[in-house]
Amino acid sequence: MKQKLENIRQNVIECTKCDLSKTRTNSVPGKGNFHSDVIFVGEAPGKNEDGNGEPFIGIAGKKLSIALEEAGISREEVYITNIIKCRPPKNRVPTVIERETCQDYLKQEIAIIKPKIICVLGNTAFNSLLGGSEITKFRGKIVRKENQLYFLTVHPAATIYNQKLITMLKKDIVKLFDLIIELKNNKKIKIDIDYTA
Ligand code: URA
Repeated sequence: MKQKLENIRQNVIECTKCDLSKTRTNSVPGKGNFHSDVIFVGEAPGKNEDGNGEPFIGIAGKKLSIALEEAGISREEVYITNIIKCRPPKNRVPTVIERETCQDYLKQEIAIIKPKIICVLGNTAFNSLLGGSEITKFRGKIVRKENQLYFLTVHPAATIYNQKLITMLKKDIVKLFDLIIELKNNKKIKIDIDYTA
C-alpha cells in the first residue's frame, strides 16, 4: 500500500500530462495516513502548496486543521489531496480538461486507500466527483455513488472571510467523524442523495 502510493507520488511529481506542469513550481501529491477512513478532496494547490509540494498548508489549510482539531482529529490521522495536483496560474478554477487529465491520480489514491467516505471540499470537487454545484445548499449531506460514500462540505478557503461558513465547516467536520464512528460500528446510516438507486 505504502509503495503503491509512493509510486503515485513519484508519477505526480514527474507529471507532464498537461500545461500546468510548465507553470508550476512543484506538483502536489496527496499526503497523510494511508489507513485513513476518510480522504479529503480539495480543488487545486494554491501558492503555498505550489512552493512546498504539500496540500493544504496555506491559510485554507490552517482553517481545515482548526476544524479537524476542534473535532478531536489531527491532520496526520487523515489523508488530504486535491482534484488536480498542480497550481493553476493565479489560482483560477481548473478547466474541465485539466481535471480530466489529472483524474487518474485521484482515482488511484481512492482505489488504494479505500476510504469509508470521501469528504468533498467545495464546488470544484463537488462538480468533478459528483457533477454537482452550489455546495452551500448541499453541505452536510451524505451521498452514495457507485458504492462509495461522499460527505459534502464547504471549501476551507471560502471560510477565510466568512464567519458563518467557518461555523458550518466545523459543524460538518464533527458530523463527518460521528458518521465515521457509525460506519465503523456497521450502523445503518441515512443517505441523503443516492446516485446508485
Ligand atoms: N486549496 C485547495 O483546494 N487545495 C489546497 O491544497 C490548498 C488550497
